[in-house]
Amino acid sequence: MASHVDTNKKRGVLIVIEGLDRSGKSTQAGALAARLAQSNVPAKLIKFPDRTTPIGKMIDAYLRSQSDLDDRAIHLLFSANRWELATSIERTLSEGTTIICDRYAFSGVVYSVSKGLPFSWCKSPDIGLPAPDLALFLDVSPEKARERGGYGEERYEKEEMQKRVRELFRKFVVREEDAEQRGDASKDDVTWVQIDAGRSLEDVKESIWREVQRVLEDAPRRPLRRLWVSH
Ligand SMILES: Nc1ncnc2c1ncn2[C@@H]1O[C@H](COP(=O)(O)OP(=O)(O)OP(=O)(O)O)[C@@H](O)[C@H]1O
Ligand SMILES: [Mg+2]
Repeated sequence: MASHVDTNKKRGVLIVIEGLDRSGKSTQAGALAARLAQSNVPAKLIKFPDRTTPIGKMIDAYLRSQSDLDDRAIHLLFSANRWELATSIERTLSEGTTIICDRYAFSGVVYSVSKGLPFSWCKSPDIGLPAPDLALFLDVSPEKARERGGYGEERYEKEEMQKRVRELFRKFVVREEDAEQRGDASKDDVTWVQIDAGRSLEDVKESIWREVQRVLEDAPRRPLRRLWVSH
């Protein structure tokens, strides 16, 4: 039976890294890319927002407070920025390359919900995006994040906002765990793992690597899923 699986080219795995500002997402995404390369696993690192596209440039101006936009308009731009890359993500995965994604739709939802927009409204434009096989939530206290050089000058880098965002990320993780335990068919089908990102770089790296090894083993046997389609 194993030979049957081996004759099919294995698809790549979609790994999403989420978390607060300064939780170490970009550091860990880079470290993971290096480790996958050492292990001869083809992998590509991508990042949202992708500020290089025309939509990304509008997002960049907004984040730097160079432009003002209605909360709903900016929400939809963040989502459109992901859709711009959705086809290329799917193609890359089907070619056997794993993708490490520094922020994704969950960031999009939690930042907008923390401004007061309704949860289900915030999820809807991202319905149908390629679903991650593994979503890592890098959890860190806002105090610890502040010690790491403090927040920058961008719009969302304020402690109150970060606290709300942290609670909302935790809700995503807990909702999935609860649904999993209940065998709830309406669960989002995203495997969340919460990582204590307040520890040393090395410890965080090791925790992430353990989870990634597991998903590299399991996920390619399943077809790629679509985000939030059962809702
Ligand atoms: N485990 C850690 N211990 C101590 N410092 C860390 C750790 N992880 C990252 N840092 C440092 O914290 C700072 C922020 O890290 P990084 O840029 O990776 O965070 P981020 O989550 O990508 O932030 P942002 O949301 O702003 O993009 C960097 O200076 C980095 O070197
Ligand atoms: Mg970063």
